[in-house]
Amino acid sequence: MKAKHDTEAAMESNGTESDLIPLLQATQERLGFVPEAAIRQISDALGISESQAFGVASFYSMFRFTEPGRCTVKVCMGTACHVRGSKNILDEFRRRLKIEPDQTTPDKLFSLETVNCLGACALGPIATFDGESHGLMKIKMVEELIEAIRAKFTAEVEERA
Ligand code: FES
Repeated sequence: MKAKHDTEAAMESNGTESDLIPLLQATQERLGFVPEAAIRQISDALGISESQAFGVASFYSMFRFTEPGRCTVKVCMGTACHVRGSKNILDEFRRRLKIEPDQTTPDKLFSLETVNCLGACALGPIATFDGESHGLMKIKMVEELIEAIRAKFTAEVEERA
């Protein structure tokens, strides 16, 4: 497991509980998420329980525990976007991708997340695809954007074949 690197670092530095967050951050930076096995190894190295480590990790929204898809879709659920219908946009993504927020599609193409404000409230509701913003979202745009991303990935695969 790649998390071994973080565990070794913890042991070499006589890791303490205060090293937990930096080790979780390093794991996520390297893998894109914090797998269960990494939490186990890090908690062992720091001499704390897995549930304690997971409790701390799950407190912070910056940590994700599932492998991200190739494209991360973020739907803003902040107040300004909410009053402009972001829940309907999120529901359409859930329906079309058949996943819930913080999950990844089985084909590993899409991850779905919610955020609380993207700093462009006047353009709400907003969704981003790998950081690219799409403002004034309408429900019909959801399918178009998903299909555009699918087509892009399919073209990439065909180019490599
Ligand atoms: S509330 Fe959505 S961008 Fe601010």
